[in-house]
Amino acid sequence: MLAMSDTFRNSLDLLYLLAAVLFIFGLKMLSQVKTARRGNLISSVGMLLAVITTLLLIQQNQLISLIWIVVAIAIGTIAGLLLAFKTPMTGMPQMVAMLNGFGGLASMLVACGDYFTKTGLGLVPEEPWHFALAVGLTVLVGSVTFTGSMIAFGKLQGLKITPGQPVLFRGQKPLNALLLVICAIFVIWLTVEPPAWATIPVIAVIALALGILLVIPIGGADMPVVICLLNSYSGIAGAFAGFVLHNMCLIITGSLVGASGLILTNIMCKAMNRSLGNVLFGGVGFEAAGAGATTSEKGTVRTFTIDDAVITFESASRVMVVPGYGMAVAQAQHVVREMADKLQQRGIVVNYAIHPVAGRMPGHMNVLLAEANVPYEQLLDLDPANAEFEQADVALVIGANDVTNPAARHDKASPIYGMPILDVDKARTIIVIKRSLNPGFAGVENELYFDPKCAMLFGDAKKVVTELSKQLGES
Ligand code: TAP
Repeated sequence: MLAMSDTFRNSLDLLYLLAAVLFIFGLKMLSQVKTARRGNLISSVGMLLAVITTLLLIQQNQLISLIWIVVAIAIGTIAGLLLAFKTPMTGMPQMVAMLNGFGGLASMLVACGDYFTKTGLGLVPEEPWHFALAVGLTVLVGSVTFTGSMIAFGKLQGLKITPGQPVLFRGQKPLNALLLVICAIFVIWLTVEPPAWATIPVIAVIALALGILLVIPIGGADMPVVICLLNSYSGIAGAFAGFVLHNMCLIITGSLVGASGLILTNIMCKAMNRSLGNVLFGGVGFEAAGAGATTSEKGTVRTFTIDDAVITFESASRVMVVPGYGMAVAQAQHVVREMADKLQQRGIVVNYAIHPVAGRMPGHMNVLLAEANVPYEQLLDLDPANAEFEQADVALVIGANDVTNPAARHDKASPIYGMPILDVDKARTIIVIKRSLNPGFAGVENELYFDPKCAMLFGDAKKVVTELSKQLGES
């Protein structure tokens, strides 16, 4: 390894610092819809700078032939492009789960590689305790993140091997606690008893099992919280890996991801009105589809035709559109905006009620509606939207289900009990566009559909809204 001049090392540190500053500014801009695109671009420039700086560092240290790096980048780029182009918007949570998982795995492998290279080559003769501690923690958090994310991916993808409902068994929590304690003991051993390299594979194996055990008891509507938490873990693993490598940029970036993931986890918990402990250890969040009373026991479900809906709109002056996962699946956002334009041309006030967990990823509805050029000021968050429902003549629910279920307010036996919902039942008339009475993600029957004020307009969201829009334009 060649000795690096101080000037060169300092220049690289400066470049890393600049990359970190770009990440921070990019992240700040991502918090607002208007500046989000620019924020993404600025963060990407930061990432490019970080990659170039790392390549310069590798070149200077002659750690590995650049050919290998180019080959790895080429493979990663092709795989990434294929995944990005093939993944539909509705598959984003699965993709995020995969990215989190591979982030954790990469940190874990980097830490192991660095430990065995340095200790094997005698480059760290004393093997300082903080180096060993950072390695142990990276292996622990990275491994939990990897398997936890793979299970989350399977649940979201609906794979048979990873059932969507919580998997619970006796002694689950004590077992998890025991595994965590064992891992902690091995990390301490690695830290205080160098060279205890044999502890590393042990920590990895136990933590891999722990990742699976921590995520299998979570299911249904609680999955958004888990995804955010795993996102945070992947950042924390990255930050620990930064300590292993003495890489300032990785430490800052990992901390940013870890902290923002935790903030998002907190927001998601609030949106579900659940504590993190309850999500992680409660084992609730799913009910077998169709469980409980049958349709006939609950009451009668009213249905509408397109003509009925058009007549209802003709006498309305305020309409609240409530988008959900079904709008995303049908890719109906553009026709929804066209329909809203027609309503507005008739002098009807149109707003959109956005639930924080509607769809399958944070901000899902905001992204789709922004893509369709719906003005930001028409998008109302949960509280302002709920303040408006009583004045709304029509609540038009498009492919939303769980986020509108009044059972969340009063049915203590319901898995979604306590989750704040959009109070669509307070509107004068409710029209629900979906294909059937099937439940949504949480697998719970929606009692809204039996409300006498509610009428179902069955069909694919895009087809129904297109037809509605056409007839509104004609009549
Ligand atoms: P859901 O409760 O999942 O309901 C979506 C509804 O869309 C389904 O009942 C389905 O009914 C309907 N649908 C599907 N395809 C359709 C199409 N082509 N046209 C019309 N309707 C269609 O959605 P939601 O109300 O948005 O609630 C989100 C749920 O997902 C919550 O439980 C939330 O916790 C969970 N979740 C959220 C996230 C994040 S971060 N947002 C991540 C993971 C999970 P039909 O089959 O009858 O059409």
